Amino acid sequence: MSSRIAVLPGDGIGPEIIAQAVRVLEALDLGLEFTEAPVGGAAYAAQGHPLPPSTLDLARHSDAVLFGAVGDWKYDHLERSLRPEQAVLGLRKALGLFANLRPAILYPELANASSLKPEVVSGLDILIVRELTGDIYFGQPRGVRTVSDGPLAGERQGFDTMHYAESEVRRIAHVAFQAADKRSRKLCSVDKANVLETSQFWRDIVIDVAREYPQVELSHMYVDNAAMQLVREPKAFDVVVTGNLFGDILSDEAAMLTGSIGMLPSASLNASKQGLYEPSHGSAPDIAGKNVANPLATILSAAMMLRYSLNQAPAADRIEAAVQSVLARGLRTSDIYEAGTTQVSTSEMGDAVLQALE
Ligand code: IPM
Ligand code: MG
Repeated sequence: MSSRIAVLPGDGIGPEIIAQAVRVLEALDLGLEFTEAPVGGAAYAAQGHPLPPSTLDLARHSDAVLFGAVGDWKYDHLERSLRPEQAVLGLRKALGLFANLRPAILYPELANASSLKPEVVSGLDILIVRELTGDIYFGQPRGVRTVSDGPLAGERQGFDTMHYAESEVRRIAHVAFQAADKRSRKLCSVDKANVLETSQFWRDIVIDVAREYPQVELSHMYVDNAAMQLVREPKAFDVVVTGNLFGDILSDEAAMLTGSIGMLPSASLNASKQGLYEPSHGSAPDIAGKNVANPLATILSAAMMLRYSLNQAPAADRIEAAVQSVLARGLRTSDIYEAGTTQVSTSEMGDAVLQALE
């Protein structure tokens, strides 16, 4: 049976980078069935909503979603529920994509791209496991209210609610322990247990789940310290597990350690291994349509899709090896260009990966 892939290119550079990833997948001849639908600002412009029902329906009935990027300044004036970002949040919630895997790998060829000293980052290979459907991102109630008593009585107040249910912490902890078990067997759970009840609860549950993985060494770190250690000694980490809000922040930090966010893929999985695959970077509207964006993060996201949702690990390995060999040949899009390498366009990078597959 062929696997159904929902292709959601989105805004900005989304369509250009997705086109290259689809070419690579097609070349592998795996009999995948691609159906495209609008999402984000593009969907708002065409159908009046960033996540139209037909797009959501397509995603629900697919084995995996290949997602470009959403967002454009043009849409910043819209009310929150119509902004492009709501498409991402809506897909995560509707498909139950609770486990977000964000690898941060520094390819040896790109060691100079990082703003940290090469000796601090060379060989970096960490995995952030971010919980994606809970926490203050989705907590209710939220909004603006008038304070009823105390010294601030009568004032307007913005508020959100942070909470984690036991089952939500348990399932993300299992994903993280299993990922750590396949790597160096070191897991660091990041929280703010010195201040937040939600975090102390998170920590207690993670410790309980750890009893099922005695072979994995578990440590805990407060999020402020983790942010500091990530730039001080990033290689001390292997797998990091954390909540939605802290994971949002730390995964951007980890991505930037490599200096090449244009290289980093990500996967968001649900309990039945259906997944959404997207580059870690955004829609970069400033360079949209210029054929200069780096398609490698999206191509590597397609590889993650083959590995995690479609049970096609050998094909995933082929894509990853092709990307490595293209880098080794010295081909670079402008974001990772340095003297002595060859600058190529988005589509030329796609051509090179296709060639390397053969
Ligand atoms: C991310 C993004 C999203 C998030 C935004 C676009 C809603 O920053 O995927 O990290 O905050 O999760
Ligand atoms: Mg983010």
